[in-house]
Amino acid sequence: MTFQNELINWYLINKRDLPWRHTNDAYTIWLSEIILQQTRVEQGLPYFNKFLANFPTVADFASATEAKVLMLWQGLGYYSRGRNMHATAQIVVNNYNGVFPTLHDDLIKLKGVGEYTAAAISSFSSGEARAVVDGNVFRVLARYFGISTAINSPAGKKEFFKLANELLYIDDPALYNQAIMEFGAIQCKPKSPNCSVCPLSIDCFAFKNKMVNQLPVKIAK
Ligand code: ADE
Repeated sequence: MTFQNELINWYLINKRDLPWRHTNDAYTIWLSEIILQQTRVEQGLPYFNKFLANFPTVADFASATEAKVLMLWQGLGYYSRGRNMHATAQIVVNNYNGVFPTLHDDLIKLKGVGEYTAAAISSFSSGEARAVVDGNVFRVLARYFGISTAINSPAGKKEFFKLANELLYIDDPALYNQAIMEFGAIQCKPKSPNCSVCPLSIDCFAFKNKMVNQLPVKIAK
């Protein structure tokens, strides 16, 4: 079976039931992705629910006071995320008629939205063929394909980004992107992954070469 099909099969059996996976609404997905940028799923989940309950639409978010946004954000840290969200909500209302963009090239212009987040929102909301590359994806690709280029070097970023986009399952980019991130988060974990129960281990370079703990490579800066 192909790498892509192995991942998707694993995902369909093992995925967590997370609320933002039941929607293709770009606003809702944006909320979840910004909250999860520097925050674990368990910690971010109640904040996601709270923001959506207080601001069911991007217009509700835009018309809130900054004080209200920052009050709801309390406890999450990195308050610039909350401020950027407020500014972005207002731009969406003013420049996009309140319709949250779904295309990568529009999303990337928004405050607080980088390459990863633009790929996540565009693929999850509109099925655009953009591979997500986050820490989970770096780890899965480095181990499975045996790539020892440092993930935080310019050459590494380029190499992983290229490979990730070549591997993207274009029949369903959203499903594939969720699958590879989830696989990195709960199976191909940074420390002590349980490779004995991993369906991808037979073709995994790192597993076959006893290099799971050496990959991915990160250079100290
Ligand atoms: N972390 C960032 N985005 C995520 C998503 N869509 N699902 C689970 N964890 C995530």
